[in-house]
Amino acid sequence: MILTVERLGHLGDGIAQGDAGPIFVSGMLPGEVVEGEVSGDRLLAPKIIEPSPMRIKPPCSHARSCGGCLMQHASDAFVGQWKIDSVKGALAGQGLEAEFLPISISPPQSRRRATLAARRTKGGALLGFHARASDTLVEIPNCQLLHPDLIAAMAGLEDLVRLGGSRSQEIALTVTKSMAGVDIDVSGGKPLDSTLQLALARAVEAHGFARLTWNGETVALRSQPVQRMGRASVVPPPGAFLQATEHGEAALLEAVKTALGPQKRIVDLFAGCGTFALPLAEVAEVHAVEGDAAMMAALEKAARQVAGLKRVTVEARDLYRRPLEPDEFKGVTGVVIDPPRAGAESQVKCLIVAKVPVIAMVSCNPITFARDAKALVAAGYVLEWVQVVDQFRWSAHVELVARFAQPYIGRNTA
Ligand SMILES: C[S@@+](CC[C@H](N)C(=O)[O-])C[C@H]1O[C@@H](n2cnc3c(N)ncnc32)[C@H](O)[C@@H]1O
Repeated sequence: MILTVERLGHLGDGIAQGDAGPIFVSGMLPGEVVEGEVSGDRLLAPKIIEPSPMRIKPPCSHARSCGGCLMQHASDAFVGQWKIDSVKGALAGQGLEAEFLPISISPPQSRRRATLAARRTKGGALLGFHARASDTLVEIPNCQLLHPDLIAAMAGLEDLVRLGGSRSQEIALTVTKSMAGVDIDVSGGKPLDSTLQLALARAVEAHGFARLTWNGETVALRSQPVQRMGRASVVPPPGAFLQATEHGEAALLEAVKTALGPQKRIVDLFAGCGTFALPLAEVAEVHAVEGDAAMMAALEKAARQVAGLKRVTVEARDLYRRPLEPDEFKGVTGVVIDPPRAGAESQVKCLIVAKVPVIAMVSCNPITFARDAKALVAAGYVLEWVQVVDQFRWSAHVELVARFAQPYIGRNTA
């Protein structure tokens, strides 16, 4: 059957109109004419008859086999516009529109944090990403996504898998580039006993890793895995949230600062380890709130070690069960809110009652962002602009910052 791809689905699959409904075609772009055999709602083994001008040669040698990247066959210009359009579409679904600032895309080889899958094998270890929609593990020595420091760590990571991995079950290694070497958090694998602990600690030493935690237990701490946040040096708890690239973090922070403008007293909601709170504390008092007590402790400790910051207070609190109440925003001039994918429906209701003048909303989910944006706009806030930040290049993932302001507050453009 010959089909023309009309659009992309939210996971990057091409969608064509078949006789009986939509047909999904992996790895295709809008406008492409493709031929293949239809099975259910999929076109199998599609052959391109007419390629899109937006099609490029995938930059990574693993692109065909690895499922880590979905969009390497499309130009940056195409992917950037697709991501902007997905946010515009979500807003339109709520009857909203906004000005969009130019997208900021992290460069190749800039991912400083990733979760790799691994298994011990008869001869050694297999470590990498899964193939698309499959359990098959694909090794990725030429990965174009990960920071070179993480690629350089692969041999050492394989040693850890050989020592503590299992042949029957995969383990997950969350690896993070820190200023002191790679920080590794493993889940799964053999239970720790003193022999394994010693062997793993030796491997950490030999490969110059900063820290290794194994199913929540610290096995080795060669040096503190420090992350810079503004002028502060933070040691995140094992496996803690961190923005995926330094470039993306800087772009999000810049947009948050622009959205807020000059401020006296800021509340940072879903604050993590202080990505926004710590740099913002260089110019304003900040109250940081986050569900994870260990992350709050890391933020607080880092803040105490920097001279000249404005007052920083922290609060470990479940913001879904117990959002900050309107009267807790007394004297607050601006809010940063960066919730998980579920968004921040109940917290937004409290922000509306509190009439916080300016809100910088950071989101990783256009759908919940648009829902929360609609509530703010319905309450009189103006959605002034949206900045999409693509720190998950070649994926379908979208991040954004948006400025909401009460109508009497001066406009702030990026
Ligand atoms: C998208 S991350 C943002 C973190 C931080 N703003 C940053 O940029 O590094 C969302 C944060 O929400 C926190 N979180 C998840 N569920 C929560 C809850 N119920 N209450 C408060 N914080 C929560 C997570 O621990 C995570 O740090």
